[in-house]
Amino acid sequence: MRLLLTTSKGIEDLAKAEVEGLLSELGVPFRVEERPLSVEGRVLAEVGEAFYTDEKGRKRELSVPTYLKERSRLLHRVIVEIASERFEGIGEEEPDVALRRIEDFVSELPTERFVKVSESFAVRSFRKGKHKITSVDVAKTVGKAIFERLERFGKPKVNLDHPAVVFRAELIGEVFLLGIDTTGDSSLHKRPWRVYDHPAHLKASIANALIELANPDGGPFIDPFCGSGTIPIELALRGYPGRIICLEKYRKHLMGAEMNALSAGVYNKIEFLLGDATRLSEYVDKVDFAVSNLPYGLKIGRKSMIPKLYMDFFSELAKVLEKRGVFITTEKRAIEKAMEENGFEIVHHRLIGHGGLMVHTYVIK
Ligand SMILES: C[S@@+](CC[C@H](N)C(=O)[O-])C[C@H]1O[C@@H](n2cnc3c(N)ncnc32)[C@H](O)[C@@H]1O
Repeated sequence: MRLLLTTSKGIEDLAKAEVEGLLSELGVPFRVEERPLSVEGRVLAEVGEAFYTDEKGRKRELSVPTYLKERSRLLHRVIVEIASERFEGIGEEEPDVALRRIEDFVSELPTERFVKVSESFAVRSFRKGKHKITSVDVAKTVGKAIFERLERFGKPKVNLDHPAVVFRAELIGEVFLLGIDTTGDSSLHKRPWRVYDHPAHLKASIANALIELANPDGGPFIDPFCGSGTIPIELALRGYPGRIICLEKYRKHLMGAEMNALSAGVYNKIEFLLGDATRLSEYVDKVDFAVSNLPYGLKIGRKSMIPKLYMDFFSELAKVLEKRGVFITTEKRAIEKAMEENGFEIVHHRLIGHGGLMVHTYVIK
C-alpha cells in the first residue's frame, strides 16, 4: 500500500522520522520518502500488510491509515494512493487539453475497487502551481471520469456533503495524484481539544515540529507567549514528565488556554501564568527549554513595536534559559538582531509554511 501523507511545508523531514518510528513498531517492511516527486508538504510511505491478534487469538488485518491517524502528531492527512503521474507541460496547456489528459488518466484507474455500489462518493481537489485550470475544474473532471467508470458496475451515488468515500485529486505543479482520503473533511491538525480559537493560533502539527526541534529532555519548559496554549498542551499530551509553563500577557487568551487544556485533559500538567514575557525573570528563575511563536504584529501600528519587544524579551530570556530555545516568526531582521545582541547562538534555521507564509524558525542556545 502506498500512503500519501500531508503535512506543513518545511517539516517533511520531521514527519518522515515520526512515520518511520511509528511504522517500525508494526514489524512490517516499509519505505518512507519525504517530498515525493519533489512535492512540498508531502511524505510517501510504502507499507506492507500489517496484522494484529485480537482478544480471541485471531489474526486480523490492521489498518495502517487508522494506525497513523491515531498516533501521528505531525500529519494533516492520510491518503491511500491509487495512482500518481507527472504530466509534463500541463501548466501551459489550454483547459480542455489539460482536463482531457486528467480525465483519460483517471478513467483507466480501477476506482471501483474503492467504492461499493451502495456507497456514495465525492471528489475533493487540491491544486497548487501555475495552471490554466482551477481546482474546481479538476474536481469536476475527476468526478465525471469516476462516475462514468462506476456506471459499468451499477448506479453510482454522488454525495458532496456527506460522502462515504472521499477521493482526493491533487495537481501540484506537474504532478497529478488520485487517492482515497481517509482523513475526512477536517485535517488532523485541527485538534478536537480546541474549544478556544485564538486568532493567531499555531497549527498543532507545527507546534509538535517545534517541540521536536527543541528535543526537551524532561527539564522545565516554557512557552512565554503561549496564546491559546497549543505548544504546552501538545507537549503535555506527549506525556512530558517535567514542568510546563504557559505565560501569556492577556487574560482572555490565558483563560482560553486553560479551557483548551481542560478539554485536552491536561489542565493539571501545565502552570498557567498571566504576565509579560519582557519581564520573564520575575516569573521564573531557570528554564531549560523555551519554545514559542512570537507575536508578529501584522496589524499596522503594532509592527513598529516588534523590534523593542523582541529585544526586551531576549535580554530577559538570556537570564533564565539554560539549554535550548525554538522560536518562529515572520520578523527575520528583528529576531536575529535581538538573539545575537543578547548572546544567543543560532544552531539551526529553517522556513516553515504557516498561514500562507513561509515563517522563519530558529533553534538557539
Ligand atoms: C502568535 S500568538 C501565540 C499563539 C499560540 N502559539 C497559540 O497557538 O495560540 C502570540 C501571543 O503573545 C501574546 N503576547 C504579546 N505580547 C506579549 C508579552 N509581552 N508577554 C506575553 N505574551 C504576549 C499575545 O497576546 C498572543 O497571544
